[in-house]
Amino acid sequence: MIMHRVLKTKAGAMALFCALMVSTLLTGCKFQPGFGYNKGYAPEQPIAFDHSLHVNTNKIQCQYCHNQVERTKHSNIPALSTCMNCHLQVATDKPDIQKLREAYDKGESIQWVRVHMLPDFVHFNHNAHIAKGVNCQTCHGPIETMKKVEQFSDLSMGWCVNCHRQPENKAPLNCSTCHY
Ligand code: HEC
Ligand code: HEC
Ligand code: HEC
Ligand code: HEC
Ligand code: HEC
Repeated sequence: MIMHRVLKTKAGAMALFCALMVSTLLTGCKFQPGFGYNKGYAPEQPIAFDHSLHVNTNKIQCQYCHNQVERTKHSNIPALSTCMNCHLQVATDKPDIQKLREAYDKGESIQWVRVHMLPDFVHFNHNAHIAKGVNCQTCHGPIETMKKVEQFSDLSMGWCVNCHRQPENKAPLNCSTCHY
């Protein structure tokens, strides 16, 4: 009703458009999944994988699963075969583990939902950071306590540049470091 009346006049439509623009700016593009600024983003996963149970309780190192992170730009999500190193034997009576086993026997993989995602025009490189001794937790927060992964940093340009600017980091600041 109110919407109708507002849209009847050109000025009303303009005002509504402006209000939407302002609110988008204020919320910092929170409504674009898979883009920067998604601090707190924690999508449902096909299997309720619990980092705190694996890392804290069972003392499995990050790199046991994310084993490419020191070598490549991307930090891989582990293949199902990595899970099955344990779960062919461990907790085989649990429904989630039975789902893993079923997919494994069919040669399928688990379609994990991506949490972090920089826009395509940004160049980021895990191995460069790991090589300089930056901890996973500095950027990803206390993953070892998370039952469900959540984006901890906003991944904005300001966040990257602020850290690069710290004198002790001696990290490059020119635009082409991060933009092709
Ligand atoms: C037993 C295997 C395993 C271990 C150990 C593990 N992870 Fe993961 N990690 C996964 C799986 C599977 C996913 C994808 C599902 C999810 O997001 O929960 C994931 C997702 C992530 C993500 C989000 C990826 C995205 O989609 O953006 C981050 C960040 C991450 N892990 C960091 C860590 C850190 C840091 C540690 C150590 C403190 C760690 N992981 C230990 C298996 C593991
Ligand atoms: C190094 C061994 C190891 C690896 C590798 C491993 N897990 Fe586990 N996982 C465990 C242990 C130990 C438990 C706890 C079992 C228990 O408490 O009965 C567990 C529990 C679980 C549970 C909870 C089951 C329930 O309902 O209680 C899920 C789900 C799970 N793991 C998924 C995964 C997935 C997915 C992967 C691969 C990304 C993976 N695990 C890799 C050792 C492992
Ligand atoms: C300097 C900050 C920083 C550090 C340190 C860092 N990450 Fe990341 N991580 C990111 C960013 C930024 C992304 C999103 C990358 C993209 O979208 O291209 C990401 C993405 C990921 C992903 C999703 C897959 C991918 O590569 O896009 C995983 C898994 C992950 N990180 C695990 C880890 C683990 C494990 C460590 C420690 C060994 C770690 N990260 C250290 C910033 C960091
Ligand atoms: C916690 C601090 C920190 C954060 C946050 C951070 N960086 Fe870095 N970055 C560093 C350090 C330290 C280096 C290594 C400088 C060196 O090699 O001398 C580096 C190096 C780089 C390099 C150069 C890699 C190479 O091959 O030489 C790129 C590209 C880069 N960072 C991109 C990013 C982007 C994009 C982000 C944000 C998404 C980001 N960084 C966030 C600390 C950080
Ligand atoms: C350390 C990494 C880093 C450096 C250095 C860097 N940027 Fe960025 N830039 C990013 C990231 C990450 C994003 C995406 C997130 C965002 O928009 O804040 C971005 C986004 C942008 C955008 C798009 C903004 C938008 O809202 O769509 C522009 C334009 C841009 N950068 C220009 C520059 C210029 C010009 C420089 C050099 C003065 C520069 N950047 C240096 C990391 C960097």
